Amino acid sequence: MHLTSLLAIAVAAPSVHAGMLRFACGQLVSERLDPLVNPGLNPSPHMHQIVGGNAFNATMSPNSDIPSQATCTTCTFTEDFSNYWTAMLYFRARNGTFKRVPIMANEYIEAANGGMTVYYLSPDDKNVKVTVPKPGFRMLAGVQSLRQADSKFVNLYRCYDELGFKPNPMGMATTDTKDLPKRHCAGGIRVNTFFPTCWDGKNLDSPDHQSHVSYTTGALGLNGTCPSTHPVMIPQIFIETIWDTGKFPKEEWPTDGSQPFVFSQGDPTGFGHHADYIFGWQGDGLQRAMDAKCDNTFGKMCLELKNTTIPQANKCSQPQKAVEDLDSWIPTLPGNMPITYS
Ligand SMILES: *[C@@H]1O[C@H](CO)[C@@H](O)[C@H](O)[C@H]1NC(C)=O
Ligand SMILES: *[C@@H]1O[C@H](CO)[C@@H](O)[C@H](O)[C@H]1NC(C)=O
Ligand SMILES: *[C@@H]1O[C@H](CO)[C@@H](O)[C@H](O)[C@H]1NC(C)=O
Ligand SMILES: *[C@@H]1O[C@H](CO)[C@@H](O)[C@H](O)[C@H]1NC(C)=O
Repeated sequence: MHLTSLLAIAVAAPSVHAGMLRFACGQLVSERLDPLVNPGLNPSPHMHQIVGGNAFNATMSPNSDIPSQATCTTCTFTEDFSNYWTAMLYFRARNGTFKRVPIMANEYIEAANGGMTVYYLSPDDKNVKVTVPKPGFRMLAGVQSLRQADSKFVNLYRCYDELGFKPNPMGMATTDTKDLPKRHCAGGIRVNTFFPTCWDGKNLDSPDHQSHVSYTTGALGLNGTCPSTHPVMIPQIFIETIWDTGKFPKEEWPTDGSQPFVFSQGDPTGFGHHADYIFGWQGDGLQRAMDAKCDNTFGKMCLELKNTTIPQANKCSQPQKAVEDLDSWIPTLPGNMPITYS
């Protein structure tokens, strides 16, 4: 997908979309497991922060019945036992040691236990329906090794100068960036990662976890056209994380003024930010919600889906199966991931 397409999605996304589900999924666990890219490997190469159902595990077979294996979810839509995860952000101090950057809860869902905000969009056009993927479906957005702008994929970063999500203009702002903001963001750094919206309709996964899905061509986002190789349009899923970068005062930044944050796979640019998704919705509620163009923003209800309160969803969590220190200053990134600039 071209950059302009993604930027247009971002413009459309905040509340001006006809059908938009926006919901809190608090932290489930932060650990080095990756059942999509490194199934069965404990620990996986780099750290992740994970939200969603508590069937999350080192191995999650496409044949497993995730909604029946899970007993809770950190998401406020209680039929969503999917898992969503991204790399973890670290602060690198002047003395070379690292500390995990905590995650902040998002605007309007401030009670959430960190984690992420998950969005599912259906097309504005009442006559255009999207198909919810089948159980077993999974996909990967982004390329962890990217260190420069790419025409196929972008993340969008927003620097909040002050706590309270300020400034927070509707849609895309000229100050939003495709890489980690280079200035001090006292109110946090928000990052949006967009999943593809076209599926081949057959394969639940592919060897690179990407080639069974595609971004649209032609018009923008869900208004675009799915290529003939990937004819089935699926909901626009995107996730939003806010890193509490204000915890690290500007006085402790590198003396040359360069930004000190680095993603757990060794990415100091942010271009290599990526996100993983394992579908785990129970029943057909999500399909009905998409067909009904459900919008739960600003206190509206989606009658097709069951929801719970944020404090209730916060009760769901998992112990680490790949044990990693989350609170100390550490001499290297977990897994000794080297920092790479290209
Ligand atoms: C899709 O088209 C509608 C109607 O023209 C427009 O309001 C909306 O913003 C478009 N969505 C995207 C993602 O471009
Ligand atoms: C994770 O997998 C292990 C090994 O198969 C199993 O013993 C354990 O019960 C699983 N945990 C969860 C939460 O599903
Ligand atoms: C490294 O710097 C951090 C931040 O200033 C500090 O908290 C930590 O104690 C230092 N660690 C060592 C080993 O000096
Ligand atoms: C479901 O969401 C609505 C809208 O946010 C809220 O008013 C309601 O209390 C929630 N229901 C439950 C059971 O938490």
